[in-house]
Amino acid sequence: MGKLEQIGAAGGVAQHIFPHAGHIGKEQRSVLAGQQGATLWLTGLSGAGKSTLAYALERRLLAEGHLSCVLDGDNMRHHLNGDLGFSPRDRQENIRRSAVVARLMNDAGMMVICAFISPLRSDRDMARQIIGSDNFIEAYISTPCALCEERDPKGLYRKARAGLIPAFTGVSAPYEAPLAPALTLDTSTLSLEQACERLFQQLCPCFI
Ligand SMILES: Nc1ncnc2c1ncn2[C@@H]1O[C@H](COP(=O)(O)OP(=O)(O)OP(=O)(O)O)[C@@H](O)[C@H]1O
Ligand SMILES: [Mg+2]
Repeated sequence: MGKLEQIGAAGGVAQHIFPHAGHIGKEQRSVLAGQQGATLWLTGLSGAGKSTLAYALERRLLAEGHLSCVLDGDNMRHHLNGDLGFSPRDRQENIRRSAVVARLMNDAGMMVICAFISPLRSDRDMARQIIGSDNFIEAYISTPCALCEERDPKGLYRKARAGLIPAFTGVSAPYEAPLAPALTLDTSTLSLEQACERLFQQLCPCFI
């Protein structure tokens, strides 16, 4: 894994910019935080349960004394990524920026739970590269599309079927399932508590 400074903005060139080295390593922060920063990356269709699981896990971690933070796709698009749409290039930039934020937070000693549809393998691979494969845990929320559409918590499938949302993942845009995720959770067969427990277990090796 290269240094974060080597992964520039899409098409951007940091000319005449010299990264300034700090004096404190992430190892020293880890000791203070009592945990090694890591990113749990939840990917899956809209309505699969990513946000619901992410925020449940955040509460569970806090209850057990572990600091964590959710980066949620919808929320990121309201602020940092508010200028981005849903073209493949904008989706990639959405993931790139979010992964950079996750990496910075990991380096600061924080557990980060990312909830992004992140439909393309290439974009998730980029996130893995930015975050560092040692700290990147990919969890595939594999809830079947039919159930996601039945749940339709935001009414988006209905709009997509009516042709009101172009390039909607699972309806009119592709979703590429992970080939080798650290774990797969199907919320049609697992309760929220069961799925949350499985995610929690993935993070246990990070606790010091
Ligand atoms: N076992 C379960 N785990 C998680 N969510 C569940 C479960 N059973 C039912 N649900 C429901 O499924 C819905 C999942 O919606 P949620 O917003 O979490 O999906 P999402 O993957 O974040 O979608 P989006 O990509 O659009 O943000 C919620 O209404 C939640 O209550
Ligand atoms: Mg969500």
